[in-house]
Amino acid sequence: MTRSDRDSWDLASSVGATATMVAAARALATRAEPPLIDDPFAEPLVRAVGIDYFVRLLDGDLPDGGEAALPVDPRHVVTNIAVRTRFFDDFFTAAANDGVRQAVILAAGLDTRAYRLPWPDGTVVFELDQPAVVDFKSATLSQLGAQPSAERRTVPVDLREDWPAALRANGFDDAKPTAWIAEGLLLYLPPDAQDRLFDLITALSAPGSRLATEYHPDGGAAMAERSKTMAPHWREQGLDLDLSELVYHGERKAVPDYLAAHDWTISMSSRAELLAGYGLELPDDAASAPMRNTVAITAVR
Ligand SMILES: C[S@@+](CC[C@H](N)C(=O)[O-])C[C@H]1O[C@@H](n2cnc3c(N)ncnc32)[C@H](O)[C@@H]1O
Repeated sequence: MTRSDRDSWDLASSVGATATMVAAARALATRAEPPLIDDPFAEPLVRAVGIDYFVRLLDGDLPDGGEAALPVDPRHVVTNIAVRTRFFDDFFTAAANDGVRQAVILAAGLDTRAYRLPWPDGTVVFELDQPAVVDFKSATLSQLGAQPSAERRTVPVDLREDWPAALRANGFDDAKPTAWIAEGLLLYLPPDAQDRLFDLITALSAPGSRLATEYHPDGGAAMAERSKTMAPHWREQGLDLDLSELVYHGERKAVPDYLAAHDWTISMSSRAELLAGYGLELPDDAASAPMRNTVAITAVR
């Protein structure tokens, strides 16, 4: 399950399975009382993908010992994903309120914002991801009778390739301000592809554009360590997923510095600050440790 330059996947394999994992967390977060997010499509999408472990997670059918016995407590992962989801939801809502009518979701996975956020009339939402990911989500949501709440345009493309050409071919207008998100993506790109991604976003961003993403100052090392502790448990339960093998290791440019050097004005919030904004605290446990230094970034041009 290691990476290569031209690898591809669906939602049940390799990097695609991470999108299903995150959607399972959103499905559980949607059931919380009171919920921080509302993603009614997450659960049917995860069930449709059909990875047995995540279906059992939704069914509460975890192995003996319960959640607290797992190396990483899934309940804390769910809270972290809920807060992350809400951060990007709020980013798009603020952009829409400020008149931005073009949105781009890079590495959309099972993101359903094009269906569940209250977009103003005239908003176009572009979703980019690998072809098998985009196609499966579109087909499943269509079978569910879901209707997008914006004009949704899918762009099946690999983000290591010429995605701006594919975006333009689908009607993207680089004269209009755009709201971009890169959520749960950067560590799955090689470091040079991460830089190229931001170069290309910058080149496509008219004045008034904005961007939201997350930055791991340690280059994802703590996330990879955490994943290694989960992999044996998952394997025992029939899930062959080791996130530490899917991320690219090695030095990365610091995202805030890189964006600032490309004329973006940056705001940053730590994960603890995001949680505190919703009256929550970052738990002092293995699931949350890698999040301690994670920074949510919004940038404006
Ligand atoms: C952890 S998931 C996050 C999905 C979504 N942003 C979310 O938060 O629910 C990572 C996503 O990145 C996508 N991805 C990673 N590398 C990619 C690439 N080179 N080209 C296209 N998509 C990519 C995967 O297909 C997957 O959907």
